Amino acid sequence: MRVARRLDLFRGYLGTEMNIRLTKMREEGKDVINLGLGDPDFPPPQHLLETLREAVRDPGHHHYPSFYSNKPLKEAIAGWYQRRFGVELDPESEVIPLLGSSEGLFLIHLCLLDVGDTALIPDPSYPSYEAGAKLAGGHVESVPLLKENGFLPDLEAISGEQARKARMIWVNYPNNPTAAVAGREFYEKLIAWAREHDVVVVHDTPYTEVCFEGYRPSSFFEFAGARDVGVELHSLSKSYNCCGWRTGMLLGNKDVIAGMAKIKSHADRGMFYPMQVVAREALNGPVDFMEERNRIFQERRDVVVEGLRQIGLEVGSPKATFYIWSTVPGGYTSQEFCFKVLDEVSVWMIPGSMYGKYGEGYLRIALTHPVERLAEAMQRLTKFAS
Ligand SMILES: Cc1ncc(COP(=O)(O)O)c(C=O)c1O
Repeated sequence: MRVARRLDLFRGYLGTEMNIRLTKMREEGKDVINLGLGDPDFPPPQHLLETLREAVRDPGHHHYPSFYSNKPLKEAIAGWYQRRFGVELDPESEVIPLLGSSEGLFLIHLCLLDVGDTALIPDPSYPSYEAGAKLAGGHVESVPLLKENGFLPDLEAISGEQARKARMIWVNYPNNPTAAVAGREFYEKLIAWAREHDVVVVHDTPYTEVCFEGYRPSSFFEFAGARDVGVELHSLSKSYNCCGWRTGMLLGNKDVIAGMAKIKSHADRGMFYPMQVVAREALNGPVDFMEERNRIFQERRDVVVEGLRQIGLEVGSPKATFYIWSTVPGGYTSQEFCFKVLDEVSVWMIPGSMYGKYGEGYLRIALTHPVERLAEAMQRLTKFAS
């Protein structure tokens, strides 16, 4: 059967393809270490599992969720933003819950782009930005993230013509895949640039709660004028170790929030009510478990950074995210190296080129395994390299 030609414009999600291949290798008896998984291996806090269990048991919680008001969840999101970032948001007009931030980051292109409009998308970046823009009929212009700029977009390098045609720019810090972080100076420049060129900033920030050594990532809305030029996506996935729950949110500019509410009224019927209950409980409840979780991520980070440096790779020690962005050894493309390592020592790392052409020469490792398993992966890499 013929399907729409627009499906040829983008690739399927890499994780899905690789999961099939890695599962097959395991079935053949190989002990594969998958360092590609951006999904914390820790469980969600116990009290949240209990809340969820109770909420699911209530027969009244299984109707279309739109029959319930999601106001209490919106209030919990706004309350969390206030406590965590010192940012005031109006729960009714500046907050919308999402089925994971993925839902919002996909649909937002339908909200912001008319056919042929330009989206400025960082390269390397999370692949769903480009897929979403293309499905909406948008035109993609890449904004390189280069090491010499700390993997931040160089706004001055965006031409007047590109800026004039652009309707939106994606920005994601702490960053996946490079693990870079952004500071006040960058955000202030970005807001001024977006205002000058009338471009909507979409700040994607699911990693603010995975951070080390006292570093605390910011919300976009901590900076003056942000609300006039943009929106922010956030998520419980990485913060509360609950990627499977599909609980996220979009915040900020009222026109965009209203547009997304209209789209979502057709695209889905809102969040399963027990998930709303547990998301509220999470956002209103204790977050001390994050400190110990982050301490463990930091210990893992140090083992992997040290292991990669020992074999001569260039790698920074990130202040946030559970990712390591490393160079690949000379003489290989990212893909050649990662697939050769997979074939020879059964360790899977994601080739940087899968995040865009400026990701060539790099690979991404996720720290989502116990430290012993990561140490084992580093030993296998050392063996491979020797
Ligand atoms: C940069 C970035 N944005 C968004 C998402 C999607 O997160 P969610 O689980 O909230 O859909 C991810 C997931 O890995 C991500 O890395």
